[in-house]
Amino acid sequence: MLLTCQAGFEALLARELTELHGVTPVERGPGWVRLAEGAARPDLAFAHLSLVAPVEVRGDSVNALAARLEEFFLASLRDERIADPWPSVWQGPPELVGLGRRISAVETAFGERLRKKLSRVAKLAVADLPRGTGAATVRGLFVYFADFGRVLVAREAFVHGQRRMADDPLAPSRSYLKVEEAYVVLGREPQAGEAVCDLGAAPGGWSYSAAKHGARVVAVDNGPLKGGALDHPQIEHRREDAFRFAPEAGAGFDWLFCDLVEEPHHVLQHLVTPWLTRGWCRQFVVNLKFGRVDPIALLRELRGPASPLAGSAPGTRIRHLYHDREEFTLVGEVRR
Ligand SMILES: C[S@@+](CC[C@H](N)C(=O)[O-])C[C@H]1O[C@@H](n2cnc3c(N)ncnc32)[C@H](O)[C@@H]1O
Repeated sequence: MLLTCQAGFEALLARELTELHGVTPVERGPGWVRLAEGAARPDLAFAHLSLVAPVEVRGDSVNALAARLEEFFLASLRDERIADPWPSVWQGPPELVGLGRRISAVETAFGERLRKKLSRVAKLAVADLPRGTGAATVRGLFVYFADFGRVLVAREAFVHGQRRMADDPLAPSRSYLKVEEAYVVLGREPQAGEAVCDLGAAPGGWSYSAAKHGARVVAVDNGPLKGGALDHPQIEHRREDAFRFAPEAGAGFDWLFCDLVEEPHHVLQHLVTPWLTRGWCRQFVVNLKFGRVDPIALLRELRGPASPLAGSAPGTRIRHLYHDREEFTLVGEVRR
């Protein structure tokens, strides 16, 4: 099994695997760790993609790599009939300068070779990750470049849901990308007719995103809204304390958003717990900063029986998003 993550977070992914799942990686590099055994673990926070039973391919040129990958793919197709679109996913740590160009060149050369041999199959390739995070693994082609000449390739992967999102010039902050990515993990986004409460909203990236999807937003923050969130007709700005804010009696929100730069236990105890246990929201996107706590201990607590998630939102997904820094994003639905 090869698990990918944000480059720089492989040590935390390794700790999550060892301390919370009892499996120790056999190798790791920037943006990946490798396990000797192979069961997908859907509830990992730091993993982005889990490639099942990857095969290692080496080559010192674009053509050599493309030829070996084609060989692997054709051999793996024996007895398989491909009639539906299939994901063709090509990745590597973006931090390795020039690797992106190498990946594109090998992907193009592989595509040309495949078109010559199996044009119908080649036409069905979709160069994108499937949306969401399912319960099962996905079949396709998953190619991960550990470096320029070393590639791990698999026909099956578990998709944990993270992905790079497209920016919007009107979004007032980079945080916009996080909440957009969180919708992908949840498999749903705010929509027209829904009400969102955004706690710690300024400068307004998350509020702007919800309004863009058609929802009405109450944006709670003493700081100013900016860019596309400023004076937006669907955003009501309240200069109040997020920890004291509560919906009016009998009027909950469809969504709770919370992105406070605060100690995570404080946010969990004094904000997430009342919102979830009192049914003030139906679903939520909550970001917890782990810069000053041990993230693995925090994960253990979040998944433990005393966590507010255990009773109120047991299906919550905890993810270290592509756009997250030292923080987790929690997405879930409140149990009724
Ligand atoms: C990381 S920023 C939020 C960014 C926002 N999600 C966006 O997309 O632009 C954190 C915000 O929380 C606000 N904040 C911190 N403590 C707060 C509190 N007790 N009540 C309301 N807002 C608070 C800060 O003023 C700051 O604007």
